[in-house]
Amino acid sequence: MCGIVGYTGKESVTDQLLNSLELLEYRGYDSAGIATLNGETGKAKLRKCAGRVKDLRKLCKKDKKVSTCGIGHTRWATHGGVSDTNAHPHRNGDVLLVHNGIVENYEELKDHFMLHKELKSQTDTEVVAAVLNRFYHGNPHEAIRETVKYLRGTFALVIMFSDQPDVIYAIRNVSPIVAAYNENGTMLASDVVALGSSAKKYMVVPEYVIMELHKTEIKLFHLDGKPCEAEYIDIDWDTTRSGKGSYPFYMEKEIMEQPDALKATMESRIVDGKIDLSADGVPDEVLKDCERICVVACGTAMHAGLVAQSLVQSKLKMHMSVEYASEFMYADPVIDDKTLVLAISQSGETIDTLEALKYARKQGAKSIAVINVKGSSIARESDYVMYTAAGPEIAVASTKAYTTQLITLFLLIGRMAKVRGLLDEAAEKGYLENLVQAPDKMQEVLDQRQDIHKIARQMLDAKDAFMIGRGLDYSILLEGALKLKEVSYIHTEAYASGELKHGTIALITENTPVVATVTQTKLKDKELSNIREVQSRGASVVLMVKDGFELADAEYADVFTLPAMADEFMVFPASAALQLLAYYVSMDKGLDVDKPRNLAKVVTVE
Ligand code: F6R
Repeated sequence: MCGIVGYTGKESVTDQLLNSLELLEYRGYDSAGIATLNGETGKAKLRKCAGRVKDLRKLCKKDKKVSTCGIGHTRWATHGGVSDTNAHPHRNGDVLLVHNGIVENYEELKDHFMLHKELKSQTDTEVVAAVLNRFYHGNPHEAIRETVKYLRGTFALVIMFSDQPDVIYAIRNVSPIVAAYNENGTMLASDVVALGSSAKKYMVVPEYVIMELHKTEIKLFHLDGKPCEAEYIDIDWDTTRSGKGSYPFYMEKEIMEQPDALKATMESRIVDGKIDLSADGVPDEVLKDCERICVVACGTAMHAGLVAQSLVQSKLKMHMSVEYASEFMYADPVIDDKTLVLAISQSGETIDTLEALKYARKQGAKSIAVINVKGSSIARESDYVMYTAAGPEIAVASTKAYTTQLITLFLLIGRMAKVRGLLDEAAEKGYLENLVQAPDKMQEVLDQRQDIHKIARQMLDAKDAFMIGRGLDYSILLEGALKLKEVSYIHTEAYASGELKHGTIALITENTPVVATVTQTKLKDKELSNIREVQSRGASVVLMVKDGFELADAEYADVFTLPAMADEFMVFPASAALQLLAYYVSMDKGLDVDKPRNLAKVVTVE
């Protein structure tokens, strides 16, 4: 959470920082700030405010003097409320600092260094700035080295010292920092999308290494002062794709990109009509030898795990648990060297998923991470990585990352079934024939988006809504409900429809909106009868039904027909329909679809 940036080079820094911060707003958007250092005058300038980057832009408009070195921050408040004072950067003496992460022992540090009188904000970050300044006597490395010895927690610290013109220093533990250069200067950011479109390569700054950004070069040093070799990765995302194009919101653009993203994710993994994970380097023994599978993930990524769970049970006849990463290690999970842990994450930085993965590996588990962001912390922590090819996902609500996670999991499980002797050649062929249709079936739904828009218009005044289904439909709806609630603020519950009559049906009254998906042959009749139960209590039911399923002549508020695939693949068209529903409700309510309140895309606090 929180986005940080830094630039030093030939160009005016203010616009560079503001533009990059706008691209990082998905990480937090309750306040923003920049600090610039003028190499000629030696003067540092601080501009910060509660609000969005656009408010900060207004604040910076009057600034006349041009600086070419600066740092910036967009905040998701953790310690200290949303205010101008708590916004970053923080200054103490010669130190100007922005921070992403949480320094857990900041109260102790206040006492230890007797800082109470000099602090203006309630943040942990200002404490770090003060400690840095205590240790700063003209030697930045010494100040950083001494300070980090005292810090407990996660941090990406980006620092300017007012008497060190044109140089930016950075160090991190867990929270990410990436860096790159081009002919005009050097830059760093929390995420590669903010590095500018002209950079061709970037590096993930190693943990506990001091980085110096100079105008023409980037240097890395271990804490003992020895130089550290930088490892650069090609930027293979088209960073210009991170713009909204002609769409009003990233969420719509990202929903529409799904067919291509699915194809790209499958491309290298289907060779000569067979699933081939050799490019991912996942050895068949790992897939063959494990006795149980455990998913650790959060939110939408966890919902992808739930869909995979049905598949694992039906295809692999194996036990698979799907755990909230945040609960995982506190529940004393049974993990050993026969466990295969799947860590699923778009950002690869979700702290709970990272910690759960580390815990499982300590117990001897093997791990495969399903990740979108290359070189991210979870990717580096895992034994093996399967990257999704979703490209940059900017909207806070995850869409294309989810469906590319699904397709990756379908491929992984297909390969597991093959190497375990549970999928012969003919069955593999059939499985893949279905899977490769997923992009087209999603496209069919996307092409009918105006019909879903009409359905959405009926839900604008709803305060509460339910989504009901059984089996795989229930897993699909858990994600559908998360999407609707987070972007539309309609309180939405997904419910296993057979469970309704054990309590929750008491909440169904006249016109309660209920969305039901009916996509599973063996459950269809039971699902339809559960729908009739809520209809009898006045619910207004929108039905999303697989093409070809016969319906008795019940009255529905609306029916959307989902293009048919084999049952286990219906998650693809159904998810597209549910994502569009959430999107249109939010848009028509006039909400900030891409940046729902209180949320941030990358959750780096526990
Ligand atoms: C919801 C959403 C979140 C994320 C969750 C995990 O739309 O995006 O629930 O899925 O925060 O994030 P990652 O996948 O980055 O680990």
